[in-house]
Amino acid sequence: MIETVTEIKRLRALVRSWKKEGKRVALVPTMGNLHEGHFTLVRQARRHADKVVASVFVNPTQFGPNEDFDRYPRTPQADVEGLAAAGCDLAWMPSVEQMYPLGVDMTTRISVPGTVTAVLEGASRPGHFDGVCTVVSRLFNQVTPDVALFGKKDYQQLAVIRQLVAELQFPLEVIGAEIVREDDGLARSSRNQYLGEAERAAAPQLHRVLREMRAACAAGLPRQLVEQSAAAALGEAGFVVDYAVVRQRDLAEPVDGQAGERVALLAARIGSTRLIDNLEF
Ligand code: PAF
Repeated sequence: MIETVTEIKRLRALVRSWKKEGKRVALVPTMGNLHEGHFTLVRQARRHADKVVASVFVNPTQFGPNEDFDRYPRTPQADVEGLAAAGCDLAWMPSVEQMYPLGVDMTTRISVPGTVTAVLEGASRPGHFDGVCTVVSRLFNQVTPDVALFGKKDYQQLAVIRQLVAELQFPLEVIGAEIVREDDGLARSSRNQYLGEAERAAAPQLHRVLREMRAACAAGLPRQLVEQSAAAALGEAGFVVDYAVVRQRDLAEPVDGQAGERVALLAARIGSTRLIDNLEF
């Protein structure tokens, strides 16, 4: 049976009672409007812990002034039903007041410095990672999980959170879970539902271009050429490209000819919807 909790006192009491019994607690942070990607995280969390908490909170501090905070889909009832079916024990659904008691403007913000937050999403969405780190730090303080799971679709977010956890010495393990895709390759995302019919038909091109980038790198093409061709291919498919890059797994720029594990990352707009995706190789 899942319990829905909206008060911090109740959350803390439940987690305390579990810990007294020696139970391991997992946290799956979400912004709701849950889909198979989230439910996979919950099922995976079960393998790492005795109790699974999923937070559902559309976090105002991580949206820019012209972003989609107001229209971000909110589906709390369906979320709780889906979480229960996936085996979640507790849905933590705080109000903005519970999360930010002094109000959003008076929030103590957590900011991770360095390349990991400055490039790519950090450059395209100023302040975004400060908002993510601010809310994730609060969730860690509230839930005190032993393990927290994040999807790899937000590849840079996962890298930022790993740095946050290491630097602030949160006593928990961070696990990155593989991307869940539709049959045509489109990565599952709450934002996919913004897509009109023609946009939805074009959206799998992101995954196709990522696979082409992987093949071109394997064939030894210079990185800049790979990135330029990817941006051009997306442009032809109707996208406005924010970035199309190949990076080392730590998001540093790779040196041509040097072997090593890489990741190709894309962010592009189709119509008014901004999509991101990536592929490790
Ligand atoms: O990935 C998300 O859905 C959000 O950025 C997160 C981690 C739940 C923080 O609001």
